[in-house]
Amino acid sequence: MLHNPRPAAIPSGLPDDCFEEYDGAETVEAIAGALRGLGVYVEPVVADRGCARALEDGGFDFVFNIAEGNGRRNREAVPAAVCELLGLPYTGSDPLTLALTLDKWAARRMVSPEVPVARGVLLRGDCDGLQGLRYPVMVKPNDEGSSKGIRADSVVMSLDDARVRSQRLMADYGCPVLVEEFLPGAEITVGVMGNGARARVLAAMEIAPVDDAAPFVYSLEVKRDFARRVRYHVPPRVSDEVRARVERMALDAYALLGCRDVARMDFRLDGDGAPCFLECNPLPGLNPESGDLVILSRGLMEYDALVQGILLEALGRTGVRLG
Ligand SMILES: Nc1ncnc2c1ncn2[C@@H]1O[C@H](COP(=O)(O)OP(=O)(O)O)[C@@H](O)[C@H]1O
Ligand SMILES: [Mg+2]
Repeated sequence: MLHNPRPAAIPSGLPDDCFEEYDGAETVEAIAGALRGLGVYVEPVVADRGCARALEDGGFDFVFNIAEGNGRRNREAVPAAVCELLGLPYTGSDPLTLALTLDKWAARRMVSPEVPVARGVLLRGDCDGLQGLRYPVMVKPNDEGSSKGIRADSVVMSLDDARVRSQRLMADYGCPVLVEEFLPGAEITVGVMGNGARARVLAAMEIAPVDDAAPFVYSLEVKRDFARRVRYHVPPRVSDEVRARVERMALDAYALLGCRDVARMDFRLDGDGAPCFLECNPLPGLNPESGDLVILSRGLMEYDALVQGILLEALGRTGVRLG
């Protein structure tokens, strides 16, 4: 199992969410336990600069990849690329898809117009283009995940505030900033599993605030306190027609982005109730308590079956047999 463990302490000078996407020991142990349930030998390997040697020396047959890597928009692609370099089959999407989805702007360009997205601009230094948007807008780091850089004050009401917030994010995260028109409707995340024509929706789940506070943002503060501040609804509290539309869009985006085995896609409804794609997570968090993919599939299967399902999809795709 190729992974990046979450360090215990945050070096001074870095934002307090700098290791947010890395996995804690409880997640690594839960995944290992689930995989061992299939009768396979599992060993956690850290996706650091020594990982090529560790993978080669370990004599492994298959890599279960949850590594988030280091660096900017290519960070998730690198551990998968190391597996390719070594000729080791691995779970999940390939390096191109992992990089493409981490760059939210590139992912939007890839899925639309077939899958609608909110109107937005990418800022790479100056703040040109902000005047063409309708406010409020959402200001977010373009190549982050796990709600890093997304706080309650990421929703800004005016051009001046958007400029200030964008400059700060560019300085703090060292990446371009994506500014999107704020989508005020329900938030729905969709789990997809499988490959090719057999890719299927596991479930769609609405993520709603406990107190219906407007505007709701599934920010870092909210995610960290999910048990008190969030209610999860499976199925989402929307019409059958909207739900079917979101599920279709999730499958289309999965195919357009070239996802494999598993992914979780985030959507939000606009002011007219029409769904828009926010982003795709081809390495969805698998924390047994708080992972959104885990939560949305609870009514369908146990945690172990979900994790095993990812490996079984990858084995089927690559033609590798257990045992
Ligand atoms: N255009 C938008 N309109 C409304 N809310 C948004 C928009 N973009 C992001 N959000 C909110 O911010 C959260 C995190 O954004 P997302 O693009 O999914 O990034 P992350 O990779 O951090 O999950 C979303 O779950 C949603 O609550
Ligand atoms: Mg998201």
